[in-house]
Amino acid sequence: MENKDKSNMGRDVIFRIKRFDGEKSYWSDFVVPAQKGMTVLEGLYYIKGTYDGSLSFRASCRMGICGSCAMKINDKPRLACETQILQLNSSKIKIEPLDNFRVLKDLITDFEGFFAKHEAVKPYLIRKDDNYAEPVELIQKPEELHAYYDFTLCIKCGACFSVCPAAATRDDYLGPAAMAAAYRFNIDTRDEGRDERMFMVCSDVGVWRCHFAAECSEVCPKNIEPAKAIQKLRFQAAVHMIKKALKRW
Ligand code: SF4
Ligand code: FES
Repeated sequence: MENKDKSNMGRDVIFRIKRFDGEKSYWSDFVVPAQKGMTVLEGLYYIKGTYDGSLSFRASCRMGICGSCAMKINDKPRLACETQILQLNSSKIKIEPLDNFRVLKDLITDFEGFFAKHEAVKPYLIRKDDNYAEPVELIQKPEELHAYYDFTLCIKCGACFSVCPAAATRDDYLGPAAMAAAYRFNIDTRDEGRDERMFMVCSDVGVWRCHFAAECSEVCPKNIEPAKAIQKLRFQAAVHMIKKALKRW
């Protein structure tokens, strides 16, 4: 019987890629013979191996885990290794580096600031009784794990930051991923470091700068909903600031 669904049949697709050589931006077009199941990342490797070895992009795991291949594909940030060419249903695919990041070369952006913001919120368990000579077992109920589990799935791909309107206006804004990480540790029942994290969270580059556009949750490839985390973090921040004010009073 004839297969009437042509979306998965192999065909040539044009990759229109935004390039940057360190001085100027320009566009390059390449024809990729796309087959069923072929990803955008495989298309980029095809171009690099066939037409232009200087094409630069970042990738590692090829399975949606490392977060390094996020880029703008047909105007939306996506993981290139998880985006199948034919499923985009388009004869021309536009590929650009993520917005809100400095471009280093072609599709490679500078993630140093993004990781520094993550580090600034202390994304690890903080214990007052920290004593590695005598480790203690910290027991947690399944529902306590469930409360923060989704936020542990973040792969630091930067897609959320790239669509954030607050990040677009201020470089030092912590952004959705860092604040989702702060919330993840703040609600972990084993953690005692909430007050330490709140210094950054309540600062003028923290939660109050979020406009709740919620674009971050729309594009997150892991469905983490950083916008939800930020709203909950805002409540924690308000409580923290009230407590501090009462102490001073
Ligand atoms: S929250 Fe989602 S979009 Fe943002 S860095 Fe983590 S995985 Fe990527
Ligand atoms: S290459 Fe690791 S997430 Fe795409």
